[in-house]
Amino acid sequence: MNPVWNYSFPPVLKMYIDALMVPGLTFTRANNGRRGLGGLTGTQQGKKVMHIQASGTVLSHGEFKDIEFSHSYIKAAMKFIGIDDVQVIYVEGTSEKPDQAAEIKEKAIEQAIQMAKGF
Ligand SMILES: Cc1cc2nc3c(=O)[nH]c(=O)nc-3n(C[C@H](O)[C@H](O)[C@H](O)COP(=O)(O)O)c2cc1C
Repeated sequence: MNPVWNYSFPPVLKMYIDALMVPGLTFTRANNGRRGLGGLTGTQQGKKVMHIQASGTVLSHGEFKDIEFSHSYIKAAMKFIGIDDVQVIYVEGTSEKPDQAAEIKEKAIEQAIQMAKGF
């Protein structure tokens, strides 16, 4: 879970991702292109990631979609290490629509409860 800071995630999460992406350990390059850990050892096959992202504005669609570098990056990074099933919950628009913030958060909590049942 992360907040969006300046259209991306906080730097501490980038440090964590950099620590996860280890050549030869979590990904490798093969003749047919990159292979994530799933292809390398089989241990990650079937792994899933739940990504919960909070942002003051709506980034999942609409006018800011093209400058969303947070979930799109995390999805790409997980795919790179062999995890294709990345499910996302956006808790978004809470600053844009402060009168709806509580409702937006409640809805996201309910979504997380439902999504967690599949993990
Ligand atoms: C330094 C900083 C940068 C932020 N940048 C963005 C941004 O680029 N886009 C956005 O939608 N929200 C941005 N926000 C808002 C946060 O994503 C928001 O505060 C966070 O989701 C937590 O929600 P809350 O303040 O309602 O608890 C920023 C907040 C901070 C503190």
